[in-house]
Amino acid sequence: MYFHLADLARKQRYKLIAGAVVPRPIALVTSLNADGSCNAAPFSAFNYMSEDPPLLALGLQVHPDESDRAGEPKDTAANIARSGEFVVNIVDEPMLPDMVDCAIAFPPGESEVERLGLATEPSLHVAPPRLAASPFAFECRRKVTLDFGPFRSIVIGEIVGVHVRDGLVDPATLNVDLDRFRPVGRLAGTWYAFQGDRTSRPVRTAAAFAQDGPLRTRRS
Ligand SMILES: Cc1cc2nc3c(=O)[nH]c(=O)nc-3n(C[C@H](O)[C@H](O)[C@H](O)COP(=O)(O)O)c2cc1C
Repeated sequence: MYFHLADLARKQRYKLIAGAVVPRPIALVTSLNADGSCNAAPFSAFNYMSEDPPLLALGLQVHPDESDRAGEPKDTAANIARSGEFVVNIVDEPMLPDMVDCAIAFPPGESEVERLGLATEPSLHVAPPRLAASPFAFECRRKVTLDFGPFRSIVIGEIVGVHVRDGLVDPATLNVDLDRFRPVGRLAGTWYAFQGDRTSRPVRTAAAFAQDGPLRTRRS
């Protein structure tokens, strides 16, 4: 089976691409509305891009065709365009219900943080606060916004600093404790994944490969 993307409608492309690139991390982005209230919305077209410089990317779509705000930028996009500042709050298992409620199409400028009663903590270097419940919160400044036609922009943010919940990262090694960090990944549509079985496979040297052969032929 092969799909030529030019032959597919926008929604079909979304289903195919976003259904295949899974599980995706979820950025619950906090940003300031024009009146200073705090907006929160989830984005799974999201990933870390670089550590030097420290960059992450967010894919922001305009409101969908079926919405009564069809074609308008989302509040997050408007807020980042206005202020250049935002916080990416990583979503873990206990945050899943509130994350989903943050995607409700509240009227423009209405604060999900206030409607849902989410606790926040002040950021150190940007104006939008972070969500107190989040295991990792990245304070970000917009580096560049790439606009691709009327529907999609990609924001590249520079990560200024990271807040980490106590007990998640070893301060000496900076290793993340995967027994304590329980991230949520987005699968297709309304489906989400939790951390399941884990496996560690260190990359070997070419010399070790020459001696021992492909990993798939090894027992463990
Ligand atoms: C798990 C999840 C992931 C989402 N990812 C994206 C995304 O990557 N890009 C996007 O434009 N909208 C995404 N959405 C939809 C927005 O969160 C939704 O349109 C939200 O109401 C936007 O809020 P805002 O107008 O306050 O920015 C996602 C929704 C959910 C539930």
